[in-house]
Order: sequence, then structure tokens, then C-alpha cells
Amino acid sequence: MSGRFAVILAAGQGTRMKSKLYKVLHQVCGKPMVQHVVDQVQNVGFDETTVVVGHGAEQVKDTLRGEVTFSVQDEQLGTGHAVRCAEDALTGKKGVTVVLCGDTPLLTAKSIEKLIKTHEAAGAKASVLTAVAPDPTGYGRVMRNEAGHVQKIVEHKDASEEERLVSEINTGTYCFDNEQLFAALAEVTNDNVQGEYYLPDVIEILQQQGQTIAAYQTESFDETLGINDRVALSSAEAVMQARINEYWMREGVTLIDRKTTYISAEARIGRDVVVHPNVTIKGPSLIGEDCEIGAGSEIVNSTLGSLVHVRQSLVVDSEVGSGVAIGPFAHLRPNTKLEDDVRVGNFVELKKSTIGKASKVSHLSYIGDADIGSDVNVGCGVVTVNYDGRNKFKTTVEKEAFIGSGSNLIAPVQIGERAFVAAGSTITDDVPGEALSIARARQVNKENYVKKED
Ligand code: UD1
Ligand code: MG
Repeated sequence: MSGRFAVILAAGQGTRMKSKLYKVLHQVCGKPMVQHVVDQVQNVGFDETTVVVGHGAEQVKDTLRGEVTFSVQDEQLGTGHAVRCAEDALTGKKGVTVVLCGDTPLLTAKSIEKLIKTHEAAGAKASVLTAVAPDPTGYGRVMRNEAGHVQKIVEHKDASEEERLVSEINTGTYCFDNEQLFAALAEVTNDNVQGEYYLPDVIEILQQQGQTIAAYQTESFDETLGINDRVALSSAEAVMQARINEYWMREGVTLIDRKTTYISAEARIGRDVVVHPNVTIKGPSLIGEDCEIGAGSEIVNSTLGSLVHVRQSLVVDSEVGSGVAIGPFAHLRPNTKLEDDVRVGNFVELKKSTIGKASKVSHLSYIGDADIGSDVNVGCGVVTVNYDGRNKFKTTVEKEAFIGSGSNLIAPVQIGERAFVAAGSTITDDVPGEALSIARARQVNKENYVKKED
């Protein structure tokens, strides 16, 4: 039976990135570039996908664990050598093997499919995905004969002046007959400027054996961008972001300024959401229908229900119900949960706290390690004093309680249902339900005080 296999090369250090982080783990729109490649490969569907790892093997494996198998390349002797490292996984198998680079995050499943179709239709033993590059510097050049048949690929560094004039480049994505690939790889030498075993040399070897070589030239050069340095990384980010933004606009999301809207590859956004300029939506955030995300807001790994209005605020690792209003200038720190219809106003910081349905924390408050019930009113400038320098303590406010402005709730402490805390109180002891608690010094007025001083 004939199978379909994929080999993704991801063992290189990525010297040109000048980074501690291995190249293929650099992110494009919040997702490691090798993950983009794996996701597209999985959309195509292969019987087996193996990722060749070397530099940063453990981190790459951690990122992709469970989705693919791994082959190890201990020494990075070139792309041809890297594919040979996957030989154990694929030896003797009949079918087609698609080889891709872990540093081409913009490549789509559609182009991979078209490459396979071209390969099969031509009955080829090797096919290469090519593109015409506006600036081909650095890429391998595709050499064709007068009849237009691909003869070989010449690396930029090995190319003559004349060969460098060719603008059709090797994108680093190929389709091979599995058995022919490994047979030809055994013949590849490292006799070139870089002293590496080049995978593209397989094309020339098979061509000289009289095998059919095919090529599929994609119209979208963008898709084939190989990320070797930070300049290319930035270009990829821009292309991917434009692609993601276009996708969401077509799904019914209004972007007021698509050029300054940053939506991660993992985020999901409901219909009729309006996103204002300079908004960043990171990680696997989930935004329900009819939300409005105001200018300058950042939503990180958070879930928002429907009809949520966020204005100039930061929402991190939090869960927000429906009909909630946040900001301007609010900061939801990790593990904050806002139930439906909550109002969080200006200069409010929340951390590891739950705010019950329809409760309000409208101005200048810090609420940390607190559990606040429904229909509670937290006045202006209320602070949950949750930290004694060593440990954190919890504040509980039961439903329908009223916390007067400028109060300090010194945790651990509990305010009962429908209780009142008078403004300016420093609450150290629990307040029973329905009680009024006043915890502040009595006011003393000294009559004629100013006159006496004269
Ligand atoms: C490669 C191609 C070039 C093509 C370009 C497209 C070769 C010799 N050249 O060049 O024709 O135009 O891609 O982007 O193949 N890798 C390993 N082990 C190694 C070397 C590389 O796993 O020993 C991996 C890298 O991690 C990377 C991929 O292979 O993901 C490509 O390697 P890279 O060094 O980026 O090759 P390019 O110089 O871009
Ligand atoms: Mg590259």
C-alpha cells in the first residue's frame, strides 16, 4: 500500500537569528513557527509526520509532543543529512514523502496539496515547490533547461553571477518518491561552499538518472518566506497578521484599523465584535459575540462572554462573563473571574478574585484574593489588604453587601450578606450579615482653634 509521509526539518540552530531561542521556536503571531508548519501539515493529512530535531531538541519536542514523531540529528551537517536522519522511520515504505522546513511558517495546506497533486499527475520522482522572489538573495535558485524542465537547484553561495540572476527560488518544500529519496540521498556529497549535505542536490541526482522531476510554482511568494533572521521574522509576522485579520473580518468581526490590530493565531472571536485601533489579543483568547474592545486594550489568554465592553484595559488569564463593562484603565491580573453584568471601572486592579453577578467595583480599588458575591457595591478606593509580607489571605464579601469608599478590608476577613461597611473603615474583624460596621476614629472638631493660635 502506498502511503503519505511528511518530514519537517527543525534541527538547525538558526545562527542568523542571534538568539538564545532556537529558530523554529520563535513565534509568529503568538505561535512557534514550527507549530504553524505542523498545523498545516496536519490539515493536509499524512500517515506519518516526523520532525527532525537537533539544536534545542528537548524544547522543540516539548512544544510538539503528542502530535508527531521525532528523529534526531546530532550534528547539523546540512538539510540532506537531516532528512537521512529520518530514514529509520521511513525506510522501505512505499509512497510519497513531503519534506518541509520548520522555518517557513506561512506555507499553507493548500500549497502543499497542490504540490502533491502536481507530483502525482506528472508521475514524478521528485517535485519542488518554487516561487518567483522579488529579491532572491540567499535562496537556492531553480535551474531549468530550455524546455522548462527542472535540472537542479543551486544554492546562493555556490551560484555563479549568471545563476544568481534567476529569480525562481526553491522554497524548501519538496515531494519525493520515498524510496528514491533515500537512495539518492546516499549519493549526496558535501562538496560545496558550505561543506554541507544539501537536500536539493537530490533533484540533480534523480534528474541525471533520467527520472521525471516536476515543479509547482506558487504565485504567492509570501507563503514561502524562509525565516533566517529577525527582519524576515518581522515580515512573516506582518503577512500572517494580515491573513488572520482578513480571516476574522470575513467571519463578521469589525476591525476599525486592521493595520494596528494584533490577533494571535490561536484566538477566536465571535460575530459583530468591534475591535478598535491598537488592540492586542494574545494566546488562545476567546471573545464572544457583540463585544467591543476599545483602543489600546490587551486581552491575554482570556475568555470573554458576549456583549462585553473593554475600554483601554489589560485583561490577563481571566474569565469574564456576558454584559460586563471593564475600564477605562482597569487591570485584570491572572485568575480573575467576573460573572455576568459586572462593572469594573477606572484604575481598578483585580487579582485571583471572583466578582459575583451584577456587582460593581467602579473606581480606584485593589481587589486581590477575594471572593465577592452578587450585587455587591464596592465603593471608591477600597483595598483588600491581602498580604502581611509573608502570606496572602482571603477576603470574602457576601451578596448585596455595601463597602463604603476608602475602606481597607484586612484579610482574612468576611463581610456578611447585606452588611454595610461605613466609608473610611479599616475592617479587621468579620462583619455579620445585615450589620453596619464603622471602624474609624470619631471626628473631633476644635472650635475657634485657628483664632487661639493668632
Ligand atoms: C534552504 C535551501 C534553499 C532554499 C531555502 C528556502 C538547502 C541546502 N537550501 O536554505 O535552497 O531556498 O531553504 O527557505 O536546503 N536544518 C536541519 N539540519 C541541518 C540544516 C538545516 O534540520 O543540518 C533545518 C533548519 O532548522 C531549517 C531548515 O532545515 O528549518 C532549512 O535550513 P536553513 O539553514 O534555514 O536553510 P536555508 O539556508 O534557508
Ligand atoms: Mg532557511
